Amino acid sequence: MGSTCVVGLQWGDEAKGKIVDLLCDQHDVVVRYQGGANAGHTVVHDGVTYKLSLVPTGILRPGIECVIGNGVVIHPPALLKELATLESQGVDIGGRMHISDRAHVILPYHLEEERLTEESADAADHIGTTRRGIGPCYRDKVGRVHGVRVADLYHPSVFRERLTRIVDYKNRLLDAMLPDFKPFDAAVVAEEYLEYAERLRPYVCDTSVWVHRAVEQGRRLLFEGAQGSLLDVDHGSYPYVTSSNSSAAGIAAGSGVPTRRIDRWIGVVKAYTTRVGGGPFPTEQDNAIGERIRQVGREYGTVTGRPRRCGWFDVVAARHATRISGSTELAVMLLDVLSGLEELKVAVAYERDGRRVDDLPASLCDFERCRPVYETLPGWSEPITEVSRWNDLPAAAREYVAFLGRQLGVTVGIVSVGPDRRQTILLT
Ligand code: GDP
Ligand code: IMO
Ligand code: MG
Repeated sequence: MGSTCVVGLQWGDEAKGKIVDLLCDQHDVVVRYQGGANAGHTVVHDGVTYKLSLVPTGILRPGIECVIGNGVVIHPPALLKELATLESQGVDIGGRMHISDRAHVILPYHLEEERLTEESADAADHIGTTRRGIGPCYRDKVGRVHGVRVADLYHPSVFRERLTRIVDYKNRLLDAMLPDFKPFDAAVVAEEYLEYAERLRPYVCDTSVWVHRAVEQGRRLLFEGAQGSLLDVDHGSYPYVTSSNSSAAGIAAGSGVPTRRIDRWIGVVKAYTTRVGGGPFPTEQDNAIGERIRQVGREYGTVTGRPRRCGWFDVVAARHATRISGSTELAVMLLDVLSGLEELKVAVAYERDGRRVDDLPASLCDFERCRPVYETLPGWSEPITEVSRWNDLPAAAREYVAFLGRQLGVTVGIVSVGPDRRQTILLT
C-alpha cells in the first residue's frame, strides 16, 4: 500500500487525529493541506493526551516527516506556540517540519475582521467560527490584493512597504465598523512578523517539490484532513462551513500532489453526529439523549471548549460526504459512547413538506426545513471499551456498524471503542 487520505465525513471532530496517528506505522510523511489552527486533533498515547492544531499529527511519531502545505493558513505565533508546547511535552521536532512558502499568513487584523462579523448586531450573520482568523485570511487569499504568503516575509523591505498599505486600508475599514477598534501600527506588525519569519525559516520550503521528491524516493504519504467534508466551502452546508475545501477535494489544490497518487481513501465518522457552531443539523438531539452523548463522549470543542451539539447518525449527510470525498473505507469512531442506550436512531432520509429527500439541499431555507426519517436499531448495554476483536462486540453493536457501512455503501475497516490507540478494532 502506498499513500492514504484521512478525511472527516461529518462536521468535524470525527477523531481523525486518532486515525492519522494509528496509520503513521504504515506511512513516512503526514501532509496537512487546508485549514489552520481552527483544527483540534487529539491523540492519546499511554494516558498522555496531545492536542494538535496546525502541526500535522505525525509529529508525535519519531521519524515521520510533517508538511504544512500551501492550502493551509498559518498564524505564525500560534504555530510557534504549538511547536514550543510539543517540545515541552518531549516531542523532538528536529528537521521534520516542512512549511510551504506559498501558504497564506494570518495577520492580527484578520482576527479583528472576524470579530466584526461574529459580534455584529445581527445574529443571523454569526457563523459560530473558531475565531482563529481563518475566514478573513482565505478571503484575502482569494481577493489577491491583500494576501500575504510565507515567501513574502523573506523580502523585508517589500513586505514592510506593502503591509503599510494593507494596514492603512484595514485600519480605515475596521475603524468605521468596530466601535472599540484600536488601529494597528504597520511598522510594529511588520517587525513582529519578520521576527516570526526568522524563527520559522529552517522549516520553510517549496513543499510541493519536497513532497514529489519524497514520492519518487518511495515514501508513503498520509494526507490529514482538518474539519469535515460537510464543512467544505463548496460541498458543505454553506454558509455554515469553513473557508477551505475540507473534503478530499482540497488535497490536490492544497498540497500540489495530484490525487492519482492516493491509494487508500479513508472516511472517518463518529457513530453519531456532532457539530460546533451554527448551521443546520437535522438529527440534533437538544434533549436528554444529546446531553448524555455530550457527557459520555466528552463532546466539548478541542479548540474553543464550546459544548458540541450532539445527535443521531445522519446517513443523508454522511453519504453526500462519502461521495464528495471518494471514501472507499470507513472508520467508525466513538462506538463506545452509545453503550447503554436502549435503542439507536439513524436518519436514512429527510422529509420536507411531505416529500422524501435523499440528498443534501443546496439552499439553507430548504435544508432547515428537512426533518429526519429515522430507522431504529436495537442498542446494547455492555461497555465495549476493552473489546479488541470484531467478534467480541455485542451482536447489536456489530449490526449497527454494519448498517452504517451498508447505508453508505462503503466497507468498514476500522472501529474505535476508546480514545487510546490500542482501543481500536481493525477489520481489514
Ligand atoms: P478530530 O478533530 O477529528 O481529530 O477529533 P477531536 O480530537 O476534536 O475529537 C475526538 C475526541 O474523541 C477526542 O477527544 C479523542 O480523544 C476522542 N476519541 C477518539 N476516538 C474515540 C473513541 O473511540 N471513543 C471515545 N470515547 N473517544 C474517542
Ligand atoms: P477539526 O479538524 C469542528 C467549525 C466552526 C464553525 C465553522 C467555521 O478539529 O475537525 P472557522 O473557524 O473554520 O471559520 O469556523 O467550522 N469548525 C470546526 N468544527 N472541528 C473542526 O476542526 C472545525 N474547524 C472549524 O465551529 O462552525
Ligand atoms: Mg477536532
